Amino acid sequence: MSVRILGTGSYLPPKIVTNDDLSKSLDTSDEWIWSHTGIRSRHIAEADDCTSTMAAKAAQAALESAGVAPAEIGLIIVATSTPDYATFPSTACLVQAALGCSECGAYDLQAACAGFVYALEQARCWAKVNKGAKALVIGAETLSRIVDWRDRGSCILFGDGAGAVVVGEAEGEGPAAHTVLWADGKGASFIYRDGGTRLKPQPGMFPIPTLVLQGHDVFAFAVRALAKVTNQLCEKLGTTPAALDRVFAHQANGRIIEAVARRMKLPIEKFYLNLETTGNTSAASIPIALDEARRKGELKDGMKIVLCGFGAGLTYAGTYLQWPHL
Ligand code: UT7
Repeated sequence: MSVRILGTGSYLPPKIVTNDDLSKSLDTSDEWIWSHTGIRSRHIAEADDCTSTMAAKAAQAALESAGVAPAEIGLIIVATSTPDYATFPSTACLVQAALGCSECGAYDLQAACAGFVYALEQARCWAKVNKGAKALVIGAETLSRIVDWRDRGSCILFGDGAGAVVVGEAEGEGPAAHTVLWADGKGASFIYRDGGTRLKPQPGMFPIPTLVLQGHDVFAFAVRALAKVTNQLCEKLGTTPAALDRVFAHQANGRIIEAVARRMKLPIEKFYLNLETTGNTSAASIPIALDEARRKGELKDGMKIVLCGFGAGLTYAGTYLQWPHL
């Protein structure tokens, strides 16, 4: 039995903040941000939205595109680093209640910007062993509430939003697919959020209740990590990166994706890019991009695709699929 993506959905809050808007309160410019990141604007949640509400809207859209009713969902996983509550209840439980998914399990998964790929792999394995069951996998973030808006070296990168997929059984065996999950905790200090919930302070970490980023270190790691997982997946499946139709890399910085393309000797056109108008939405970035590509008609059955992400932890991960089979 194989598993496939049955539908996708996304939600971006309507408020748009441009680079020019940021330059009114920060010593920065559209020229600097665009040339260093490829970002022009990002969506920012209004006071009445939070991670669970955006997640529920993206999930609702995914259910509609899949033609699946909330009552058919047996599992909800929300990948997020910005849950509504610091620890509990999970954002996934709030989404369950909002959607009216009466009979299901629900939990959050924290693997930062690689979280969606981690969550998709858990849902794929769960759907494989629970015949006929369907899962909602959601990446959702309200990063605007944790970034330090005084720090021009990090706040210009991030945006809010949510993306979701419905995963369920497919007919027959399906084509080969594979996932790799990796972490390198030695880089934990490269990007972290310090809000009082980390019990054991580490040397080099400072008590600032916001997101802290060592941009250069994360940039260098990201290029190595995205190229490594894409190469590993192709090797495992006996194919080459050149044979891929599309790569959906975490939309962190366009310059990172360009460097990955150069390192892998792939044309940049193979990489889906939408960060110009979304910024970095962490765990939401890959499902938002997938949904946008599907709605534009850019995802055709059988396309060879790699989804790859990296983020705080450090974590990194990738999935090779032949659309829409996982
Ligand atoms: O999901 C994972 C999240 N994290 C990432 O993906 C981050 C990866 N890293 C990056 O994207 C880049 O390192 C940044 C965009 C964060 C920074 O770009 P950079 O090219 O590495 O810049 P930099 O930190 O080396 O700074 C170069 C200069 C500095 O000025 P001086 O010291 O040369 O005078 C900075 O102060 O640019 C300055 N600078 C800015 N100037 C205008 C840094 N940020 C800004 C800014 N506007 N927003």
